[in-house]
Amino acid sequence: MGLSLLGRLYAWFWLFFASGLVSFSPLYGICNFAKLPQVEIFSPPTISESEHLRALTAGRFNPDTFFAGMEPMTVTRMILQADALDTRTSKLNRLQVGEWALVARNYLRDAALSPATRKDLAAGVINSSAPESRAKSHLIDALLGSDPENVDRDITEHDNARYENQQPYFGLPPESYSTRYDHLSKIFKSLNLQPGSKIVDLGSAFGRVGFFIGLQYPTVDFVGFEIVPERVREAERVRRHLDIQNIAFKEQNLADLAFTIPTADVYFFYDPVSESTLQKIIGELAALKKKSRSFHIVAIEGRGQLLKTMRSLPWLKDVTPPNTFDPMNANKPVCRDTMIFETIDSFEL
Ligand SMILES: C[S@@+](CC[C@H](N)C(=O)[O-])C[C@H]1O[C@@H](n2cnc3c(N)ncnc32)[C@H](O)[C@@H]1O
Repeated sequence: MGLSLLGRLYAWFWLFFASGLVSFSPLYGICNFAKLPQVEIFSPPTISESEHLRALTAGRFNPDTFFAGMEPMTVTRMILQADALDTRTSKLNRLQVGEWALVARNYLRDAALSPATRKDLAAGVINSSAPESRAKSHLIDALLGSDPENVDRDITEHDNARYENQQPYFGLPPESYSTRYDHLSKIFKSLNLQPGSKIVDLGSAFGRVGFFIGLQYPTVDFVGFEIVPERVREAERVRRHLDIQNIAFKEQNLADLAFTIPTADVYFFYDPVSESTLQKIIGELAALKKKSRSFHIVAIEGRGQLLKTMRSLPWLKDVTPPNTFDPMNANKPVCRDTMIFETIDSFEL
């Protein structure tokens, strides 16, 4: 299978001309200092990558055996590139792309990669210019070695007493109740975190927020509380394997009367709870505010009325940065409603 002449010229341009531009320009000195991967994680495909991509998406190879022995960087780049291709103009079958990307992600998740390689690749994808998508978040989880789908699928017996009046999001794909990495990038960029800042995730699921902080803000402390023990065990397994020291995941029912929320600079709150638990949490946050603590709350609407409730609290002000969360698509399910609040110092409780 060959590339068209135009395709070859395009690939050669990127391989030689564009890379030559960097190496001969004054930029080279600056680039040299930055710890960049040899090949950018998201850039136009090399000739061999293009050929692999076309062969795979045309169904000419068995993806189950195709990736064996392939460089993880190449596999990662190919997933990002295929995901970014416009299926109409490139005549790729979107279903085929999805299928082989799934196999490729499984391959990356189970590959014998060192923890350092996993963290480098995952951070490379987070910081790449590859278009935002759920597929990108799936890929980052796979690179970290996390396996949320299988863990949730294996929870066959639910301890009904434990989950009474709580909202454990069973029966939904984990991706649908986890915050996308590109949303996390936008949220935390707007928060101006300092070394030593503390973040608490109220309902941390498989630890998405924690892993993002572990990779992007190694001097910030994070703790996530989660009611489902299987999810906590999976998050801790991955954390230990990757040896990320500044994050922790704890099994905890937030509704438990013996539990009080620890002090923090940011509370992350992606609609984890039932109405009664929400009221308990708000009461505790109000008590912290009363002790002259100031903090931010990131609130993401899920199934309930979280944003309405948070907006009604007189001791909070809305500090959501404008145009951050793709206002053109604000009503689409992939762009969840997110608001950021800050305590009002002058408000006496
Ligand atoms: C929508 S997910 C958010 C996950 C994560 N914070 C994120 O943004 O990617 C909410 C999580 O809260 C957990 N949860 C629900 N009720 C809880 C409770 N009472 N105590 C602790 N966690 C709870 C659910 O099991 C679920 O994993």
